[in-house]
Amino acid sequence: MRKSYVLGCFFFAVLSASAQTTDYREKAKKIVAQMTLEEKASLCSGETAWSTQAIPRLGVPSIFMTDGPHGLRKAEGFDFTNSVPATCFPTASGLASSWNKELVKRVGEALATESQANDVQILLGPGINMKRSPLGGRNFEYFSEDPVLSGKIAAAFINGVQSKGVGTSLKHFAANNQEFERMSNSSVVDERTLSEIYFPAFEIAVKEAQPWTVMCSYNKLNGVYASENEYLLTDVLKKKWGFQGFVVSDWGAVNDRPLGVTAGLNLEMPASGGFNNKKIVDAVKKGTLSESKLDEIVIETLAITLKAKDSHQQGIVVDKAKHHTLAREASGESIVLLKNSNGILPLKVSAKKVAIIGAFAKKPRYQGAGSSQVKPTQIENAFDELQKLAKGTTFSYAEGYTSAGDTNATLLNEAVKNAKGAETVLLFAGLPDVYESEGYDRANMDLPAGHNQLIDAVAKVNKNVVVILLNGSAVSTPWKKEVASIVEAYLGGQAGGGAIADVLTGKVNPSGKLSETFPMRLEDTPTAIDFPSKDGVANYGEGVFIGYRYYDKKKIEPNFPFGFGLSYTTFSYSDIKANMTSAKDSDAITISVKVKNTGKVAGKEVVQLYVHEQETALSRPENELKHFEKIALAPGEEKTVQFQLSSRDFAYYSTTAHDWIVKSGKFDIRVGSSSRDLPLQETLDIQSTKILTPVFTRNSLLKEFKQTKNSAVIYEALTRSFTGSTKKAETEEEKKAEAFMIAMLADMPINKFLLLSGGKFTEEQLQALLQAANAK
Ligand code: BGC
Repeated sequence: MRKSYVLGCFFFAVLSASAQTTDYREKAKKIVAQMTLEEKASLCSGETAWSTQAIPRLGVPSIFMTDGPHGLRKAEGFDFTNSVPATCFPTASGLASSWNKELVKRVGEALATESQANDVQILLGPGINMKRSPLGGRNFEYFSEDPVLSGKIAAAFINGVQSKGVGTSLKHFAANNQEFERMSNSSVVDERTLSEIYFPAFEIAVKEAQPWTVMCSYNKLNGVYASENEYLLTDVLKKKWGFQGFVVSDWGAVNDRPLGVTAGLNLEMPASGGFNNKKIVDAVKKGTLSESKLDEIVIETLAITLKAKDSHQQGIVVDKAKHHTLAREASGESIVLLKNSNGILPLKVSAKKVAIIGAFAKKPRYQGAGSSQVKPTQIENAFDELQKLAKGTTFSYAEGYTSAGDTNATLLNEAVKNAKGAETVLLFAGLPDVYESEGYDRANMDLPAGHNQLIDAVAKVNKNVVVILLNGSAVSTPWKKEVASIVEAYLGGQAGGGAIADVLTGKVNPSGKLSETFPMRLEDTPTAIDFPSKDGVANYGEGVFIGYRYYDKKKIEPNFPFGFGLSYTTFSYSDIKANMTSAKDSDAITISVKVKNTGKVAGKEVVQLYVHEQETALSRPENELKHFEKIALAPGEEKTVQFQLSSRDFAYYSTTAHDWIVKSGKFDIRVGSSSRDLPLQETLDIQSTKILTPVFTRNSLLKEFKQTKNSAVIYEALTRSFTGSTKKAETEEEKKAEAFMIAMLADMPINKFLLLSGGKFTEEQLQALLQAANAK
């Protein structure tokens, strides 16, 4: 009952959104019909660094767009440090670790309120590029190494922001997975890898949330700049996925503006000072750019511009305290408990002497550098917040390292002295500012040497060390065995310090799960050889095997696996059920599982569903995340979680069909609490409804002719005549000889048989066979 009501609301929302889009399109069409060529061209680039061009005579308004993904950064010009105060939420790697779509939606709503209050019409986020390597400089600003997790979190974010009348910019489209030479590098990626790994997060977000804009990336894709890549911007984004908004260039990503118009790039940002507009006018006059294409591009931009302006609300006041509380909640849910020996956390109320070590406890690292950098409305630190929450405890403090991450004998001695006298040590470590930023990649996965030295020294004198990490992307933890507990707090935003205190004291039960694998060593990573680019080319040689897809396939033990995270309670999984175990891929298949809180405190669990194909047509990952749900459970409580599967959950991308294809066969549905802990399994026998009809050519291999009824006859006839046997092999000897010949012939293109036959098998006969094989 409730489900169909929810579905009803969803369809209503989709219908009314597209009706609105049509209205604005109609209005835009009428206005564009009255424009001069120069006016149309003027709408193809901005007026300033952040605003679009107005045409007062036609009532075309100007709209304002600015970063960013985890907080509003409304700056004057390009001075990133001088922006309006805004709530700084956890950065994307943290937010995604919450796996909580509803929470992310609420963060989106708050971001929109702050945008409305500051007269911002489009917020430049979310960033959803895949984490191809742990070294990606902007990994802190991206959600995950998995496209489903990224896409679903992005859709929630966009729906949140846009529900309050502010647009988003889904970025950076596409294959922008490194910072090194980001404006010139060419990402060389095959069609299947693009479709299965680098596109789906964008596809999910576009189909489920229709962002008002998509931002094209700086890099080239297979040799063509994203800003003038027709395949990307028009064929895939607009035609295949039905994107209804406009494409904006990343700031400065335009190479050849008229080519960009032809490819589907609507708006160049920032303003080009008019010179690119002139190029557009010239190109139309010369006939190298069609004016109707220009019209189409301008209509798309104008439709969103009109909608954005109409959606602006006057007089919005931000409740800063409320947003700060939300930031603390979001940060708390983003924290991932990686290790907790002997239940050392939460801190016992009886612990009277606790040593806090590490400068990050008082001066936290809470966001990354670059265009997403926010000026927070306030900053909490864990040192102060812990004093408020654990009243009976005495906290000592030692700085441990300098702001650059170095340490020295004096700092180490002071830290060791504090640690010796304490029941528990809370040691704050992580990556200093300069280690992670837009514009360059990381050199390695390590913490600064000073942080590692500090942890080693302290762990030698105290068994109860809790390491709290503040960083935006995967790091190595060489001291893992020497410490009792590890808390990954990510870049938690302005309330990160409070959120850490909440988790350490047990006020919040940690429920984050890693949205990226923490590898053991850099050499183990899928891009160890090919990252970053060499000679301007980033070769995506690992194909679809990024993140856990790679570690699973290679049976490499990660330091901490994708989807992993501990809780202060325990959960049990049972009763996996499918409403049908033999089904067509188009059937409505439902999987249900029971999850129970078997511990003593309330907690949240992320239930993860992965699909494994038993016999694959081509090399596929062992397990792929297809669905997830976060649920809250009181002690002893049990809930049933349901997942609706669709044909896409079983499909691979076929480069022959240029489409998603399911191969009939058995699929294991695996459910559990991380990519490496999937206790439940149900096997489904799936019948594909979309059969790929092969097209046979003179270059088709003999074995391929086994595929259809028509071609199988040819296969039989050819093998028989070329193995030289007119009758079926009977003796062991005959069978062996025949098997040998068949194996030799199987991989030959059939045109080779012309040669092998010494002229007996003719081209005419071959053509006749092909016609018969291809007959419908
Ligand atoms: C970044 C974008 C950002 C834009 C505007 C670019 O350098 O790549 O993510 O939205 O600047 O600040």
